[in-house]
Amino acid sequence: MPERLLVCTAWPYANGPIHLGHVAGAYLPADIFARYHRIKGDQVLMVSGSDQHGTPVTVRAEQEGKPVEEVAGAYHRSFLDTWQRLGISFDLFTSTHTQNHQEVVYEIWRGLKAKGFLYEGKMPLMYCPADDRYLPDRYVTGTCPHCAFLGARGDQCDSCGRPLNGVELIDPVCTFCKNASSTPEMRESQHYFLKLSALNQELLGWVEQRGKGLWRQNVYKFTQNFLSEGLHDRAITRDIEWGVPVPEPGWGRKRIYVWFEACIGYLSATVEWHKAHDDPEGWKDYWYQSRGAKVYNFIGKDNIPFHTIIWPGMLMGYNHDLREAGGEALNLPYEVPANEFLTLEGRKFSTSGNWALWVPDYLERYDPDPLRYVVTANMPESSDTDFSWREFVRRNNDELVAAYGNLVHRVLTFTYRNFEKQVPAPGPLDDVDRALLARADEALAAVATSIEAVRLREAIRHAMALAQDANRYLDDKAPWKSLKLDREATATTLHTALTAIAALKQAFSPFLPFSSQKLHELLGRTGTCHDEGWGVVPPVAGQALPEPFPLFVKLDDKIIEEETARLG
Ligand code: MF3
Ligand code: ZN
Repeated sequence: MPERLLVCTAWPYANGPIHLGHVAGAYLPADIFARYHRIKGDQVLMVSGSDQHGTPVTVRAEQEGKPVEEVAGAYHRSFLDTWQRLGISFDLFTSTHTQNHQEVVYEIWRGLKAKGFLYEGKMPLMYCPADDRYLPDRYVTGTCPHCAFLGARGDQCDSCGRPLNGVELIDPVCTFCKNASSTPEMRESQHYFLKLSALNQELLGWVEQRGKGLWRQNVYKFTQNFLSEGLHDRAITRDIEWGVPVPEPGWGRKRIYVWFEACIGYLSATVEWHKAHDDPEGWKDYWYQSRGAKVYNFIGKDNIPFHTIIWPGMLMGYNHDLREAGGEALNLPYEVPANEFLTLEGRKFSTSGNWALWVPDYLERYDPDPLRYVVTANMPESSDTDFSWREFVRRNNDELVAAYGNLVHRVLTFTYRNFEKQVPAPGPLDDVDRALLARADEALAAVATSIEAVRLREAIRHAMALAQDANRYLDDKAPWKSLKLDREATATTLHTALTAIAALKQAFSPFLPFSSQKLHELLGRTGTCHDEGWGVVPPVAGQALPEPFPLFVKLDDKIIEEETARLG
């Protein structure tokens, strides 16, 4: 039975280009998962968009001295280009700055308000007397009240991951003016609040039932901890001019808090995709609980509380008493495979310190698949992992080129030269041939199981292990020796090796889509590997083969130094 899967990735703030940390955290894992399920024949919709609102974007626009709309728009276009070149296969990558998004946000707002989960109240806020303005979220930094981290921002602590309110910070500083002589002070302002406290028990029950033993350990533990400490209501409006207007009369000078509206993007993007495909009701297939779709949220670990507590809480509140109103309950996240962090040459990514690998930059100089390979082989699934250029070159040369690429190239060139540029007809198989074919089936099944459980490091290892076994098979059979003695046995060897290569092409296709498609064509096939489904389609005897070329290029050690010199 095909499954219906909504593959969601965190919406990147439109405040800078995509760096490798984003890719490793959410976009590459989601893409691998979505590609595999599409090949398998499941119904997949992969959506996201740029997070255009909030102080991360306005702070950036102020730094660049440009209108915020222009800055957000430019990064949005840069994202689209990065996805295309890196092969991140979104069905829709939209933005939070659309009419459609606003309408869906208002629907959720009204639903929550009608059921008593939104209320008005006064909130003390940080205010900078020197600048004569409120300091929401990232406009104020200070010491984290929970973990004493020095550089916590007014929206979240990067060290312990807890969402914060600016007023909780110890020794607050205005990031706008950084004026040491003027300390931010507290002022009261009127805001809307989300009554999370009323959903605490229900959320705990859901996490126990849905997450325990099923979600990754760190995701479950963090959530469980957070909920047992007791949830506080959270302000969901801000004193700023950029963002989604508050749908209440007299609130013209405030905006909805970015974290309240951004997650609603998963829903609004689904609606947008279906509207654009002439199926305005189709979004319900992904969101109505009764229809059995599964929602996957691929995110980095800093986003965990928003996706396992606040967003599910909003959905839960919205879902209250719907039946009487003739509506249907919406899906909460099914799985939240949050990744840990990727460090770069042993250090945390830092935009301001230029300690980052900017993906558009990388793609100017190298192919996408080696990066996809190296990041997946070392994906931060259960602990932080490091990306280094030395490791990149090593894995590219030893694994992609020497193990996988050479196998393919040896078999294809040998066949091309000695068997009239065609797939040879095999004779009877011996046990060694049969063992390799069995290994190929086994490897494809193992890759599938691991991807379905979102264990992608393990999955790619299964694929590479098949390449290594196929290399051993080839060395063992030594067709270059048997050619003169027994042409039929040699043909059998090559046909078997080509079948294993067809399996490798499929096994690697979610991870290395560009190389797999090239290999698909090198095997003389038309269409895409995608159309073949998840399984081995053996090469047909007599199939013409094009002239082979290497799938991967060896990288020179000197790039290690060149690339590390660009950092910092
Ligand atoms: N923009 C946020 C970040 O970069 C992620 C938002 S995820 C969303 O941390 F779903 F809320 F949009
Ligand atoms: Zn902290």
